[in-house]
Amino acid sequence: MKQTTSMKYTYGTPIETDAVVDKGIQQGKELIRLVEGEGCFTYTLKPETVVYGLGENLRGINKRGWIYESFCADDCVHTEAKRSLYGAHNFFIVAEDKPFGVFVDYPGRISFDIGYSNIDELIIKPETMDFNLYIIEGETPLEIVKAFRQMIGTSYIPPKWAFGYQQSRWSYKTSEEVRQVAKNFKDNGIPIDTIYLDIDYMERFKDFTVDETAFPNFEAFVQEMKEMGIRLIPIIDAGVKVEEDYETYEEGLKENCFVTDGEGNVFEGAVWPGKVHFPDFLNSKTRRWFGHKYAFLLDKGIEGFWNDMNEPAIFYTPKAVEAAMANVEKHRGENIDLGTFFGIKDSFSNIMNQEAYYKDMYHDMDGVRVCHYDVHNLYGYNMTRAAGEAFKELRPNTRTLLFSRASYIGMHRYGGIWTGDNCSWWSHLLLNIKMMPSLNMCGFMYAGADVGGFSDNTTEELLTRWLQFGVFTPLLRNHTAAYTRFQEPYNFKYTERIKKWIEMRYALVPYLYSEYMKATLSNDMLFKPLAFEYNDPHCTQVEDQLLVGESIMIAPVYEQNKTGRYVYLPENMLYVNFESATNYTVEEMKKGHHYIEADLDHLPVFIRPNHMLILGEVAANVEAQDSSKLHAIGYYKDHCAYKLYEDDGITPKPKLEDSITEIYMSDINVKPEKLEKIEVYKISSCE
Ligand code: NOJ
Repeated sequence: MKQTTSMKYTYGTPIETDAVVDKGIQQGKELIRLVEGEGCFTYTLKPETVVYGLGENLRGINKRGWIYESFCADDCVHTEAKRSLYGAHNFFIVAEDKPFGVFVDYPGRISFDIGYSNIDELIIKPETMDFNLYIIEGETPLEIVKAFRQMIGTSYIPPKWAFGYQQSRWSYKTSEEVRQVAKNFKDNGIPIDTIYLDIDYMERFKDFTVDETAFPNFEAFVQEMKEMGIRLIPIIDAGVKVEEDYETYEEGLKENCFVTDGEGNVFEGAVWPGKVHFPDFLNSKTRRWFGHKYAFLLDKGIEGFWNDMNEPAIFYTPKAVEAAMANVEKHRGENIDLGTFFGIKDSFSNIMNQEAYYKDMYHDMDGVRVCHYDVHNLYGYNMTRAAGEAFKELRPNTRTLLFSRASYIGMHRYGGIWTGDNCSWWSHLLLNIKMMPSLNMCGFMYAGADVGGFSDNTTEELLTRWLQFGVFTPLLRNHTAAYTRFQEPYNFKYTERIKKWIEMRYALVPYLYSEYMKATLSNDMLFKPLAFEYNDPHCTQVEDQLLVGESIMIAPVYEQNKTGRYVYLPENMLYVNFESATNYTVEEMKKGHHYIEADLDHLPVFIRPNHMLILGEVAANVEAQDSSKLHAIGYYKDHCAYKLYEDDGITPKPKLEDSITEIYMSDINVKPEKLEKIEVYKISSCE
């Protein structure tokens, strides 16, 4: 029996975003649940109502108490006062006795005031009334999520090696430096699957080029790294450098592939390379052209990419610099007052990412001229779509790693996301924890933050704690900004401790990969708030513990100088206190509140009743892992079963029913026949 009902309401003349793939959603006549007001929709929140969702955004799992905006922002200071980050994910659920989900498929600026103006009022305010609005009713938030995810199509699946540990830093400037990083990992015996190439690998920051001086014989270098078990993952930026004789620039110009300005000239902004033009990713011909440019690197052996600066970030435009300069000139030699001084200062300090730039950019959406400002949130999505669509043609028999900074719902089918330029702050570790379920709700399954923090200097303690959480996120990448402290594991005093948590990640890969595949292919979430599974009012209050997959609950430590924390158990669980991937103690814990000790050398994981946690062997990288060496920790009364997903990890279209090994434990029997690969710890005292 179908448990959910989805309705579509069309307002004005919506711009097609291709977010929703199910074109059969019933058109509603009378709007349900929301009340239509003057250019907005409202809803009265009950005291107990919880609002979940909005994907990549600030603040808590429960979104009540703040105003959020969808307007993809290149803003690297994610403080509580902000309203928007890099993604625009307009889906949320109002959870109460009769819950409902709302998706506003609107590519422009829209705000979600969830008890900010009035504490008990929800106000949805798009800038114009042109959109499709979807309302999904169901019995539970999880059912609503599943119905929504079904509507928007299956999420992206990366290659299995993308579940390994990944190392990055903005400022690996030469192949020699990268080689040294690889060597340091190997010398210290630290497992690793990838090293990232930030903008410095390019020739003068030009997409689809390689700086031959800094990275000579690139193809051979890619191969050399692969032989060490390391894949190189280069960055691709949205802006194309304006430079005569540069192929991508010349082709784009000739084929009219760039965004134009209000006067019909090619729009000029500036990012890392200086002056750039922006490819018109909203145009299918341009998407195809740009997507196929990735072949330049694919042909050199590259198997993964990260798409950056695609909100798009615009540091300045030549016009804005001219205006700012003129403003300075105008006052040169004057005895200026304070107001004039701040005016001059602001004309430069506010020059980045101005709304006026977006209002002066135009797309050719396959024959329709559209102002960028009205479709701003589709830009990064379509850059990633360009790459994803091209990979299907260029590399049809494999999965290519791909993730993006800016995104909109719909992009989840083509790639994952990383959550952008966070800071090495404890609050951002907590933000990362709280954000994961909201991202999953919106279809973003392959996701993670810059572990250790991007801006500012990390500390050994923060990095260790972040890793202890990051070992559960599909994308586990340590990345930091140029000019910050070196953040690779071997640059800290207790490298061995950091190493053992990276090893822990490898032990978790069989479980994480299985859970990722199962959740993705059945439109489920990998990370769930406790309240999504337990009908226990206390669970809605718990925002710092998460369910990860079907078997476990995690309770990360996210504060400085803590050697333990309080944990709420919504039912009896098996507390596994990991000291390393192979060394742990277990203890049955009763439902309720507990204080658990967890210093930097311990990682608590809780197994749910009648479930098991599967652990793999620690290996140098994912492909080197022997999948026949599995270890299971089961917590059950009579029996429990687990579906282990064991496909090759690269096949383009994995099916849920393929490659599954059923592991079964009971007092008298342990299956499958391939049992010799499973070492069982049975805890049977569960009540
Ligand atoms: C901004 C990205 O968010 C960051 O990860 C990257 O290191 C810099 N751009 C430089 O490319």
